[in-house]
Amino acid sequence: MNHGLCVFQFPYRKYFTTSLILIVLLFAFASVSPAVGATKKIIFDTDPGTDDAMALMLALTSPELDVRAITVVPGNVTAEMGLENALRMVSLANRCDIPVAGGAKHPLFQKLITAEMWHGKNGLANIELPASKCKADPRFGLDLIIEMIHKYPHEITLVPVGPLTNIALAISKDPSIVPLVKEVIIMGGSITGGNVNAAAEANIYNDPEAAQIVFQAGWPLTMSGLEVGNKAMLSPKYLEQLSKTHGPINDFIAQVAKYLVGLSAKFGDGSGSPMYDPSAVGIAIDPTLVKTQEMHVDVETRGEFTRGETVGNRGGYVERNVLHGDRYVIEGIDKVTPNTKVCIDVDADRFLQLFVSRIAGK
Ligand code: BDR
Ligand code: CA
Repeated sequence: MNHGLCVFQFPYRKYFTTSLILIVLLFAFASVSPAVGATKKIIFDTDPGTDDAMALMLALTSPELDVRAITVVPGNVTAEMGLENALRMVSLANRCDIPVAGGAKHPLFQKLITAEMWHGKNGLANIELPASKCKADPRFGLDLIIEMIHKYPHEITLVPVGPLTNIALAISKDPSIVPLVKEVIIMGGSITGGNVNAAAEANIYNDPEAAQIVFQAGWPLTMSGLEVGNKAMLSPKYLEQLSKTHGPINDFIAQVAKYLVGLSAKFGDGSGSPMYDPSAVGIAIDPTLVKTQEMHVDVETRGEFTRGETVGNRGGYVERNVLHGDRYVIEGIDKVTPNTKVCIDVDADRFLQLFVSRIAGK
């Protein structure tokens, strides 16, 4: 009998010891790596804006993201209208718990250019959302950004989807935030031509000096530019899907999408509307949606035809010219250090399906 017990005890003890080691290892692993499924704290800096509206609603309906603050920058509409739009949207989403603050009133060194032509006279596709039950946060937008980054060091992902004025001002006011930011995912720029003219993308064109500050800050920066937005097109097929389901957010976004698809028919071939700002949020949710290439990006601030262009150094080097008498001689090449992950491709269908699935029924 005793003997029998002994035989039984041996494998039991072995099993117990193995389990204990596994538990200890699991705890050790958990303490050094982020929890699986952990949410990403984001600050959404926006100039709402139709595609800003879609981006915000995607962020608010995605469990991977925890929107800690919304800051408003002038761009598509004035600072005042942008703040009003942001408040009405958080109210629609029943998220008065998220601070919404106004920031800069104009770009750093140039006059504001608004885009009612593309976004509707109120910036939200002429859709009149109910008055907001949420109140604006009294803090200045850039102070809110600075405060949040200090409150959650190494945890905040900045997602700016408008001109980069607020972000540049925040860095200038408190440079110590730079190493405390987890990452920055911007919608803006292009390495293959612009959408406001031959060279520049709208968000960068609307404040090139601010953009140059943000690109040179020295933090982990991902640029989701026209290469992504122009491929991730909200086509009539996706509009149809969005129109089949209902809910306050869903119905609002379906109306915005209808307006944008209509614009694409008026000014283009009707194949759909570029999902510029939602793509940046998509990347925050799932970085595998895009293919990136590391390069050094500078923003052109002086070019007669190229002001606002994001100049990406694809080769990764510059020639070294040395003056010899009355001429320069190329004496070698100098490597340039990448400062940006430039998105060069996107899995558009996977992203659009994600977008529709998140909005559907909300
Ligand atoms: C960008 O410009 C704005 O009009 C859009 O909201 C988007 O952020 C696209 O160039
Ligand atoms: Ca925008």
